[in-house]
Amino acid sequence: MSADRKFPDGFTWGVATSAYQIEGAWNEDGEGVSIWDTFSHTPGNVKNDDTGDVANDHYHRYAEDVALMKDLGANGYRFSIAWPRIFPEGTGTPNQRGMDFYNRLVDELLAAGIEPFATLYHWDLPQTLEDAHGGWRSKETAKAFADYAGFVAEQLGDRVRHYFTINEFASFVEAGYQGVDVQVGGGKTIHLGAAPAVSVSDAELKQVRHHAVLGHGLAVQAIRAQGPEGTKVGFAENIRVAVPVLDTPEHVRAAEAATRERNAGFMTVMMEGRYTDDYLASAGGTTPTFTDDELAIIASPLDFVDINVYRPGWYIEPADEAPGYRDVPINASHPKMLSSWHVFDPEVLYWAPHHMQSIWGAQSIYITENGCAASDVLTADGRVYDSDRVMFLRAYLTQLQRATSEGIPVHGYFHWSAQDNLEWMDGFGNRFGLIYVDFETLERTPKLSADWFREAVRRNAVV
Ligand code: NOJ
Repeated sequence: MSADRKFPDGFTWGVATSAYQIEGAWNEDGEGVSIWDTFSHTPGNVKNDDTGDVANDHYHRYAEDVALMKDLGANGYRFSIAWPRIFPEGTGTPNQRGMDFYNRLVDELLAAGIEPFATLYHWDLPQTLEDAHGGWRSKETAKAFADYAGFVAEQLGDRVRHYFTINEFASFVEAGYQGVDVQVGGGKTIHLGAAPAVSVSDAELKQVRHHAVLGHGLAVQAIRAQGPEGTKVGFAENIRVAVPVLDTPEHVRAAEAATRERNAGFMTVMMEGRYTDDYLASAGGTTPTFTDDELAIIASPLDFVDINVYRPGWYIEPADEAPGYRDVPINASHPKMLSSWHVFDPEVLYWAPHHMQSIWGAQSIYITENGCAASDVLTADGRVYDSDRVMFLRAYLTQLQRATSEGIPVHGYFHWSAQDNLEWMDGFGNRFGLIYVDFETLERTPKLSADWFREAVRRNAVV
């Protein structure tokens, strides 16, 4: 670790958001209905029955929001495009008024000197595809996704050079199609669900995963075919990271093996173009059904490896018996951040990129999300003192800097999130922003952490 804790020259300091969580204007300018509209409009699904109908009203306030990002010093912005704005029916005739919103946003970003990084799928599937095909249960959705992705790359290609196909396979597939149990310490797990809120069998779930990674691969090809030369493509996966208990070669090898195996349905097949034997044998071994051509598409070469990193998946130590590693349970007293699932461990931001390089030889890595919810309040003096988020930033980015100082090729960091927003099932109460949003007045107020972030960008270092 260098004494001045500098990041490499040219490092991207970004902030991130997603369409459903901030845009609002859910049925304006011809937008179609998404599965998240349907889910949040069903009472009891989201805390306090919050919805994305208005959210941060970013659709109308995007210019103010870009100015706020500029004031943070951000030189990159990762946003997502709402598929139902572009193809209200999922496929068919594009909706120019929806496309125009992203044209305006991109122009505003470029004028502010902020590089746009567009995510094509951040979970707001057109409802029509859910109704017609069962969403990602069908290969039709993967094909429709590629058509939409190619169209966007063609429309924005003169100004947007960086695309992420799909956000967090390991969240929306698992939580949406079955529900997922996450260990939070002391032997406890919490159950997370999401739209479209269906529950398929373990074998069917493997097929859903396959369609999601196939959709990614087809989209990579479509973006390359329809975007201009020089367009860069990756995904944004919440890789489940095994953290070695000890920093010894044996423990690190065990953690790498666990990381590779336990991401077999998503990351591993996208990086290697094959499913591991253990994965194929799991859940009765009947699925997924696939062809060699599909595997080649899934592993289409990428320009960068992009990962969302919040918490360790497991602590791992070596074992004599197969598979050569074992889980160390997370202790009940392990520190946590506000979100129920958020086990706090800054070292995960060292090990995640480390494993990307050591397991798959990644040559360009972006942290497409990292951040935390905190119980932020606007105080009488008009400020928000999110001291725990400042601690979180300093601690996690110290570990990221450790990775870059060892030559691990991390080229950018996007903080989740630019501003407080609709935290899916947790509603507006779980605030993740550097900027506070009053959801009654929609007034924005930069927090203490915004000062930290601005200074880190200015020095290109941990402060
Ligand atoms: C991951 C998701 O991509 C994002 O939408 C979510 O709000 C954050 N993590 C925080 O949970």
